[in-house]
Amino acid sequence: MIEQTLSIIKPDAVERNLENNIKSFFEKNGLKILKSKKVKISKEEASEFYKVHQTKPFYNDLCNYLSSGPIVVMILEGENSISQNRKLMGATDPSKAIEGTLRKMYGISIDKNSVHGSDSAENAKIEIDFYFK
Ligand code: CMP
Repeated sequence: MIEQTLSIIKPDAVERNLENNIKSFFEKNGLKILKSKKVKISKEEASEFYKVHQTKPFYNDLCNYLSSGPIVVMILEGENSISQNRKLMGATDPSKAIEGTLRKMYGISIDKNSVHGSDSAENAKIEIDFYFK
């Protein structure tokens, strides 16, 4: 099924000029970049975006981090794009991600893990609307 998902290139990767590498990796692996923009969000916006994690011990650091510098937000489209994107990203913790995944290639730590991707169809819709509506 052709579907859409939201992808974020996080501050650590934007800072290291990895935007083009990450975009061409998605395209080479069957995901089309329908929309893309570079933004800097506030701590309040980051807190809203990550509110599913609000009870987690890492929530405050996570919101500070996502709002710490420019990010690139994209709508990716393709066959099973939600699971395909998650496969291409690899495990949340880069030290556990398998060879050939984005987080293995570029991730620095569980916080600075370079990319975010929606984890379900329901969240993909919410996350796309958050940045593009
Ligand atoms: P992301 O896929 O953007 O979703 C939430 C983020 O929280 C996750 O990537 C990690 O960067 C960050 N995070 C920090 N600590 C943890 C943890 N212990 N478990 C899961 N995510 C964490």
